[in-house]
Amino acid sequence: MLRREFLHRSAAAGATFFAKSFSSPFSRPSSAADSRIEILLDESLGEISPNIYGHFAENLGGVIYDGIWVGENSKIPNINGIRKELIDEMRLVHPPVVRFPGGCFADSYDWRDGIGARDKRPRRTNFWAGEESASAPAVHKYDTNQFGTNEFIQFCKLTGSQPYLAANLRSLSAEDFYRWVEYCNSPAGSTTLADTRAAAGSPDPFNVRFWGVGNESWGCGGNFTSQEYAVEFRRYATWVPSYGRALSFIASGPNVDDWNWTRGFFEELVRKGKSHLRSVYGWALHHYAWNLSRGRTQNWVEGKGDAVNFDAVDWYELLREGQRMESLINGHWQIMAENDPDHSVKLVVDEWGPWYKPGSEATPGDILEQMPTLRDAVFSAMTLDIFNRHPEKIAMANCAQLINCLNSLYLAHENNFCVTPVGHVFAMYAAHQGGQAVRSIFNAPDIHYDRDGKPASFWALNGSASLHGKSLVVTVVNPSATDSRETQLIVHSAKIKSATSTLLTNSDLHAHNTFNQKRAVIPQTKTVDATVPELIYTFPPASVTKLAFDLA
Ligand code: AHR
Repeated sequence: MLRREFLHRSAAAGATFFAKSFSSPFSRPSSAADSRIEILLDESLGEISPNIYGHFAENLGGVIYDGIWVGENSKIPNINGIRKELIDEMRLVHPPVVRFPGGCFADSYDWRDGIGARDKRPRRTNFWAGEESASAPAVHKYDTNQFGTNEFIQFCKLTGSQPYLAANLRSLSAEDFYRWVEYCNSPAGSTTLADTRAAAGSPDPFNVRFWGVGNESWGCGGNFTSQEYAVEFRRYATWVPSYGRALSFIASGPNVDDWNWTRGFFEELVRKGKSHLRSVYGWALHHYAWNLSRGRTQNWVEGKGDAVNFDAVDWYELLREGQRMESLINGHWQIMAENDPDHSVKLVVDEWGPWYKPGSEATPGDILEQMPTLRDAVFSAMTLDIFNRHPEKIAMANCAQLINCLNSLYLAHENNFCVTPVGHVFAMYAAHQGGQAVRSIFNAPDIHYDRDGKPASFWALNGSASLHGKSLVVTVVNPSATDSRETQLIVHSAKIKSATSTLLTNSDLHAHNTFNQKRAVIPQTKTVDATVPELIYTFPPASVTKLAFDLA
C-alpha cells in the first residue's frame, strides 16, 4: 500500500582539538586528518529563518491529550492545564512556531467545537479514531475538545512560539475559514466573535499570522487534483480580512517527489494572473523517511523499519532516505520557478522526520508514537543542516511531531516525561536561528558499505555554518556507524578568540532516552583551545557536534 493510499483510506568520546605545526589555511590536511571543513565567512547564503526550527502538534494519539494537555485539575504539574515540564523544556529550544491542529486531523476539524466554556464543548469522533486500538484512551478516539484555539494560543504564548493554524478545506467552507480568522484576529470589541473570544478570557486579538489552507489536499485533505486544489486555494485565500496584519497563507504542497503536484498547482494558480502568487506565502512540502526496505518494496506498511532494532545498513538506509530532502528542495524550487521566476513563494517543509512501523511506543497504544534513538538525532541534525544550507528557499519547517509521536522531541505519559535525542539536537541547533548562513565546504572520503551484496556509499561528513555578528556556529554530522573522522577545520578571514564544542553521541547506535533512563543520550559541552594555528577536530562515529566560536 502506498502512503497516498493509506492516507486516502484513513480519509565525546575522543573528540579533541589540538595544535599542529603552523601551515597556511590552504595547505593540505596533516597526514592523520583525511578530511577538511572550510568556512567561508565572506560568502553569505542568506538569513536562516528561525521558523525552520518549527514544530507540529496534531490532535492525534497522545500528542495533545496526555502530551500537551493534562487539564487544570490534574496532579501533573501544569499551567492552566498545559504540562509544565513540556513548557520548561520547550523554552530551552526556543520554539519559533507550532503548527496545529493537523495534519490530516485539520481537514475534519471544526474550530467552533474548541471555543467557549470547556464543559459545554461537544465530543466528536477524531479523524484518527479508526486507526486507534481498542485499548487506547477514549479521548484519543472521541475528542472532548478541551484543547481548542484559546488553549493552543496559550500554549504558544507560554513557550514563546508563534501559532500556525491549519484550516479545514475538505469539510468546512471558505466562510468558516475567514470566521476563524475573525475569531482570532478581529480587534477587541469589534465583532461578535471578538466578544466570544473576550468572554473566554482573551479580549486582545491573537494576531495569528500563519494559516495553512488545507493539508495534504492530494490525499486525506480532499483527494483533489493539483488543478482543483489551486482553484479552491484561490477561493479560500481571496479577501480574507487581515485586520491590519498581513496574513501568510501556506498552500498544501507535494508529497515527496510529486513534481506534477507542484507544476499543476502553480500553472493553475497563475491562470488568472501572476498576482495570485502574492496570495501564497509558503508551499508546503512533506517528506517522511519511511522506506527502509533497501529498494525491495514501495509498500507503505511493508517498507517500514523498526525504530530501535536495526543493523548498520538500516542506519545508513534511514540517512539515505533523509538525504533525499536536499534534492526535493532543489527539485520543487526549480519547478516553482517555471511560474514564479522571482521566487516570491518559499518552501515550508511542514512535515518531516522518520516514520517507523509500530512497536516501539513509550506508551503502548499511542498511535504513530515511536522511540527516537541516536539514529534519529543524527537524521534530524542532518535535516536541519540541509535547511540551513538553503536559507533563501526555506521559510519554515515543522518537525513531525512535537511529543508522543513520530520524530518527537519529548515523550510523556501521566507523570513521566523525558527529552529524546531529537530534542537535544533542537537545543544544540537553536544557535543557528536567525543567523546568516555562510558557505561551508566539507571534504571527506565517502563511507563505503555492503547493501545486501551490492556496494553502497554515503557522504562521510556534512553540516552547516552561521554567523551572528562575531559568533560563528558550525554544526557537523559524522554519519559513520563505525569510524571517527579526524578533520582539519579552517575558518577563512577570521581569527578565533575562543570556542566550545557540544557533542551528542553514544557508543551504541540504538541508544535512546526513556522515562527510567533519561540521560542515556545527552550532549556534552567543553571549552576547547581554538587559538592554535591549525585546528584538528576528531568527530566520533555516529555523532552530532556543534562548534561555537567567538571571533576576534
Ligand atoms: O504526521 C502524521 C500524518 O502524516 C499527518 O496527519 C499527515 O499530514 C501526514 O500524512
